[in-house]
Amino acid sequence: MRKSMVTSAGDPERIREAARILRDGGLVAFPTETVYGLGADAQNTRAVCRLFEVKKRPAFDPLIVHVTSQEAARPLWKDTPGMALSLMKAFWPGPLTIVLPKSEIIPDVVTAGLPTVAVRMPANEFALSLLREFGRPVAAPSANTFGYTSATTAAAVFEDLGAGIDLILDGGPTQVGVESTVLKIEKERCLLLRPGGITLEELRRITPVSFPKATGESVMESPGLFKSHYAPWTPLTLMDQPYSSFMPDLGERHDARQKKKIPWPRIGLLSFDQQAQHPAIETVEVLSARGDLTEAASNLFHVLRKLDRMNLDLIIAQTVPERGIGWAIMDRLRKASGGKVGIGGVLSLR
Ligand code: TXA
Ligand code: MG
Repeated sequence: MRKSMVTSAGDPERIREAARILRDGGLVAFPTETVYGLGADAQNTRAVCRLFEVKKRPAFDPLIVHVTSQEAARPLWKDTPGMALSLMKAFWPGPLTIVLPKSEIIPDVVTAGLPTVAVRMPANEFALSLLREFGRPVAAPSANTFGYTSATTAAAVFEDLGAGIDLILDGGPTQVGVESTVLKIEKERCLLLRPGGITLEELRRITPVSFPKATGESVMESPGLFKSHYAPWTPLTLMDQPYSSFMPDLGERHDARQKKKIPWPRIGLLSFDQQAQHPAIETVEVLSARGDLTEAASNLFHVLRKLDRMNLDLIIAQTVPERGIGWAIMDRLRKASGGKVGIGGVLSLR
């Protein structure tokens, strides 16, 4: 088993080493402004295959290619329509991924055989230093086992994937905390495939946005794709009622069980902004005490992983307001719940 190393992204020598590793077909985890990415040379089919293996990612799930500039993105696409230029101008570097028909430069393995490729320019100085040093496009999914909660620190990457990676560049905790927005440009339409760091409100200042048709479970043509994603190992239920309405119900059941000396499950509450204490709840994590969605997003995956280490029977995640980046948070929480919503999910625990 390969022993991986966590090293400072601020050290230029380590950036050079990371670029050498990429050139040799290795895998390097690096910080971006959203979450940590697991990078491979996008034009090296073997390296990309290894990336899929290490992540246990199904081969049909395409990767995002990372570049250092608008100019570097253009050759990866067949054409760069005016809309793409406007979007890049408005949001790059930053958490917007643009999907367009691909050129020959990118091998099919990167795009899972799709005729399109997803490209973004991250807004993180360490990511950009690495990309510049390497000098070519880097394919990088989020640095986590497929389906599991994304990593927002180097330690989280190490914990999850450490053994399979050649180098982890530690650039501190990521700021945005949720992945990039994935937008597909199709004829005249912009189709939102995954809500993320660039909000719908921001996008709409540049272009109208359409949504893929909801057809049963496969709402998304790509991301999110699966019903359960971004999920902790601990079962998670999304609570769509306010604390004041579900807590009394839960409390009563807790008390009844206590009386009969029936064990009560260990429950962790993931709250948006409310500190709460209740005998039915083992622990509470607050995403943002001041009710700030940006702060909540940056804490989300870290807090989910923290709760996941606590040996709980259930995590109850409370909804957050669906505006701004709250939309991306809710998308991740819905997927993490695998569709379990409301008090039913809690009561089904024995
Ligand atoms: O913020 C981010 O985007 C992070 C950082 C590391 O850049 N990366 C990331 O990658 O979240 P990943 O692989 O975890 O998610 C990429 C998403 C997937 O849901 C994938 O299906 C979608 O982008 N995607 C990639 N290529 C696509 C394509 N050609 N068409 C449609 N969706 C695509
Ligand atoms: Mg991911």
